[in-house]
Amino acid sequence: MGRFYVTTPIYYVNDAPHVGHAYTTVNADAVARWHRLIGDETKFLTGTDEHGQKVADAAAKHEMSPRAWTDQTSARFREAWDALNISYDDFIRTTEPRHFESVQKFLTAIYENGYIYKDVYKGLYCVSCEDYYTLESSVHGNCPIHERALVEMEEENWFFKLSAFEDRLIEYYTTNPNFVTPETKRNEAYSFIKGGLRDISITRTSISWGIPVPWDEKHVFYVWYDALINYLTAIGYGRDDDEVARWWPHSHHLIGKEIIRFHCVWWPAMCMAAGLEPPSHVQVHGWLLVGGQKLSKTMAAEGEVRLTDIAPVTLTNEFGVDPVRYYLLRETSLGNDGEFSHEGITQRYNTDLANNLGNLVARVTTVVSSKCAGVGPAPQANSVLRIEAEAAIARAAEAWNRFSPQGALEATWTLIGATNAYLERHAPWKMEPGPDVDAVLGDALEAIRLVAILSTPAMPEVCEEIWRRVGLAGSPSGQTYPQSVVWGQYCADGPVERGEPLFPRIVKRP
Ligand code: MSP
Repeated sequence: MGRFYVTTPIYYVNDAPHVGHAYTTVNADAVARWHRLIGDETKFLTGTDEHGQKVADAAAKHEMSPRAWTDQTSARFREAWDALNISYDDFIRTTEPRHFESVQKFLTAIYENGYIYKDVYKGLYCVSCEDYYTLESSVHGNCPIHERALVEMEEENWFFKLSAFEDRLIEYYTTNPNFVTPETKRNEAYSFIKGGLRDISITRTSISWGIPVPWDEKHVFYVWYDALINYLTAIGYGRDDDEVARWWPHSHHLIGKEIIRFHCVWWPAMCMAAGLEPPSHVQVHGWLLVGGQKLSKTMAAEGEVRLTDIAPVTLTNEFGVDPVRYYLLRETSLGNDGEFSHEGITQRYNTDLANNLGNLVARVTTVVSSKCAGVGPAPQANSVLRIEAEAAIARAAEAWNRFSPQGALEATWTLIGATNAYLERHAPWKMEPGPDVDAVLGDALEAIRLVAILSTPAMPEVCEEIWRRVGLAGSPSGQTYPQSVVWGQYCADGPVERGEPLFPRIVKRP
C-alpha cells in the first residue's frame, strides 16, 4: 500500500466552470479512485484560485465585492464537481484563513532563508494570463495567448531569487527523470531551465485583493505565488507537521500545458527555497479544443461554439454523468491536445457504451434469465476468456498506474470485445439449458465482473449498477485488490436481472 496525493490546478473564479476545467478534474478524479481501489492511502485535492487582478476585475464588472463574487463563483465549481460525481477529499479556496496562514509561513521561511529581496519591477503584464512578458515574448506588444495589449508595469516589488536554483533544478530533473510526464513536456520544462532563469517579482502594491506580505504590509503576494502554495496548505503546512510529513512529497500535480513553467520550474524552486523537497510528479495534459482551437472568450467570433461556454452540467443533462466522464477520459491521451465535439461524444456513447458494454450486459443478463432461471452460473477455471482477461487486467492496471485513463479504458474495452466475440462464437441463446450454456455464461459473467472493477474509477455509478444486475453483493470499488481481479471469482449472491438498457442509443439530432 502506498500513499497518493493528487491535485488539480485551482481554478480561477473570474468565470463559470467549463468543460476544459471538467477535463482536468475528471481525469484527476478517475486516477484518485483507481488509487483508492488498489488500497493506496489517497488524498484528492481541488479548489479555486481567488486572488489577483483578473478576479478583482471580474467582481468589479459584476458590481460585486471580490468576496461576494468569489463566494458565488467558487460555489459554482463545487456544483459542477458534484454534478460530475467528483470524489475530492478537500476543496481549497485561497481566500480561506488556513491558506493565508500557510502562505505567510511558507514565504517567511523563504525570506528568512535569504531568497527574497526588494527591487523595482519594470515590464509588460497580461492580466488574463496573470503573467509577465518581455517584448521578445510578446507579439508586437500583445499577449501571444489572448492577443490583447500588454500593460506596462513599474513598481517596487519583492523578488524571488529563482536564478539561484538553476543548478539544483537541473540536478533534480536529471536524478528524477519522471518528475514531469509525458517526456515531451519534461523536455520543454528542462530546456526552459537550461535557457537560464531570471528572478521573479512576487508582490504587488497596485492591488489589495491578495494575501499581505507579513514583513511589508503595503504589499500583497502575486496571485501565482500564493496559488501554488495551496498544495501545501491543504496538508496543513505551518499548522500540522505530521500531516505534511504524511503527504509530502507523495504529490502528483495534474496540470494543463499552459502552466508548465509555474509548476515545473517555479514550484520546485520555491519548495527548495523553503527547505522542502520538491513535489514528486507533475503530469501535464494538453488542451481540449473545439474546431482545432482553444477558444477563449476574447478570441471567439460571434456565434462560434466556444469551449468556455460549454457548462459541464449541460452535457451531463444530455448524456448522463458517467458517459460524459467516459468520453473525457477515453477520447484523448493525457498529454496530447484533444478535440471536443458533440458528434464525438455521441459516437463514443453509441459505439463503446451502447453497442459494446451495454449490449454485453443486456445479452448476458437476458440469457441467464431465460436459460438459467436468473441464477448466474460459475465461470470455468480454464476458459479461453481467462487469457484475454488476464492480459487486459495487466494492461489496464499498468495504464491506470501511469496516469493513463485512456490506456486503461482501451485495455478494458478489449476484454469487452473479446467477451462479445466469445458469446457470438458460442451463441448460448441458441443452446439448450444445461452445463454447456452455464459454462459460457459463467465465463461472460466473470468477464463482466472484472470489467466493472476496472471501469469503476471512470464510471462509478454505472459499474455499481452492473455489479448489482449480475447479482453480486457489495460494490466494484469495495473489493480487495489485487485478489479481486484474479479470474474465477464470480459467484451469484443474488438474482441476475436484465433491467432497462444501461445506455439507450442516441439517435442523431435532425
Ligand atoms: N489558477 C490557475 C492555476 C493555479 S494552480 C496553482 C489557472 N486557472 S484556470 O482556471 O485558468 O485553469 C487552469 C486549468 O484548467 C488548466 O491548467 C487546465 O488544466 C484546465 N483547462 C482550462 N481550459 C482547458 C481546455 N480548453 N482544455 C483542457 N484543460 C483546460 O490557470
